[in-house]
Amino acid sequence: MKKASTSGTIVQEYKIASSRFATGVTITTALRPDGSPLGLTVSSFTSLSLDPPLILVSIQRNCRAFPDLRAAGFFGVNVLAAHQQSLSLRFASGIKERFARIEWYRGKTGVPLLCDVLASFECALESSAVAGDHEILIGRVLHVFSCEGHPLVRFSGSYCGLRELPSVADNVRAACA
Ligand SMILES: Cc1cc2nc3c(=O)[nH]c(=O)nc-3n(C[C@H](O)[C@H](O)[C@H](O)COP(=O)(O)O)c2cc1C
Repeated sequence: MKKASTSGTIVQEYKIASSRFATGVTITTALRPDGSPLGLTVSSFTSLSLDPPLILVSIQRNCRAFPDLRAAGFFGVNVLAAHQQSLSLRFASGIKERFARIEWYRGKTGVPLLCDVLASFECALESSAVAGDHEILIGRVLHVFSCEGHPLVRFSGSYCGLRELPSVADNVRAACA
C-alpha cells in the first residue's frame, strides 16, 4: 500500500481522487436580506434522509455568498441539465450579476429557482455543521419539482454527459438463482 504523503501532496492527491467521483451539478440559491437573489455552483449536493426528507450541501465558509446563504433560513437547490454547462460556469465565476438575463422565478418559499432545470428542491435550513473550511447545510425539503432529461455531470475536472450501460441485472439475477 502507498505510504501517506506530505500534507501539500496529500491535498493535491485528495483533489484528484475526489474528482474521480462523478457528481451532478447544482446551483444553490437563496435570497439576500435586501431581497436580491444569490446563487453559486455546488456539486456537493446529497440526498440525506427520506423521513423526514433531508438533503445537504457543503459550502466553503470563505465564499462570498456563504454568510447570506447561511442566514437566509431557506435555500433552493437546482439540478442542472446537460445543456446548462454555461450556468455552472457563470455561477462559479466572478460575474457580479449572476442572475442577469437568466430565467428564474421565486418558489413557494420565496427562494430563487432557475427555469429549465431537471429538478429543484426548496428547503428550510434544518441544521448545519462546520467541517474544516466548509459548512454542511442540512435542508428539510418542503417543495420539489422534477422532469425528464439528461443531467450535467462533473467528472475529473470536466463536464460530461451520461451514457447508459447495457443492463446486467438479468445476468446477476440468474447467477443468484
Ligand atoms: C462544478 C463545480 C462544483 C462546485 N461545487 C462546490 C461546492 O460543492 N461547494 C462550494 O462551496 N463551492 C463549490 N464550487 C465553487 C463555487 O461555485 C465558487 O467558489 C463560487 O464562485 C462561489 O461563489 P461566491 O464566492 O460568489 O459565493 C463549485 C464550482 C464548480 C465549477
